[in-house]
Amino acid sequence: MTAAEFVAGLDAENQAALRGLAPDATLKAEVRGALNVPNLLKVALRNEVEATEIAARWLVATDDVRVKMAFARQAGDEAKHFRMIAERLRELGVDPEAVDPLAGGFGPLFQYLDSLTTTVERVAAGQFTREAIAVVKNRQFIDFCERVGDAATATLYREVIEPDERYHHELGRSLLLRLAATDEAQARAARAARRTLELAEELQQKALATAGIHHAPGC
Ligand SMILES: [Fe+2]
Ligand SMILES: [Fe+2]
Repeated sequence: MTAAEFVAGLDAENQAALRGLAPDATLKAEVRGALNVPNLLKVALRNEVEATEIAARWLVATDDVRVKMAFARQAGDEAKHFRMIAERLRELGVDPEAVDPLAGGFGPLFQYLDSLTTTVERVAAGQFTREAIAVVKNRQFIDFCERVGDAATATLYREVIEPDERYHHELGRSLLLRLAATDEAQARAARAARRTLELAEELQQKALATAGIHHAPGC
């Protein structure tokens, strides 16, 4: 399979799986979910720290200049999102300095991503797949913000954060088109993408079951 055929197939597979991440079940759960935008933005802060950290680790772990610059761009954007979300929390009356996003340590998805050792897996999992998940989750979060009347947060996500996450996904696509050139690279990339989707699904189910959290934004 050519890299282009592989990436098109992986994209289709991801999109099919992502339809399962946008479940109607979340709408039912919403009734009991004592959710509000500030609490979801606290979850977002944590996601942004983790996304910044993993991109920065991968930036120093590769000698490939294009890959380095892609992770550098991503790390910078995620850090920018962190700052914008912190500012929005402050406007909503929450002191972001009082929030420790890493109080519970790095989460399972971060740990998995950090365990990946090849660039093709990192790009497939951390950019191409994780950022595709983020786009779906952010669209759900924007809908949620609009339903509860928080136009400013919806605008922040619609105009800045979601387009950036989409760009990170596209960075992943362009790198994969070069890196997923052999059967072995394609097998590694596909495995890493699948595991990332599984973990995202598990984490979403767990957040729903334990904390009633749904519509948390992605990164
Ligand atoms: Fe991102
Ligand atoms: Fe982000």
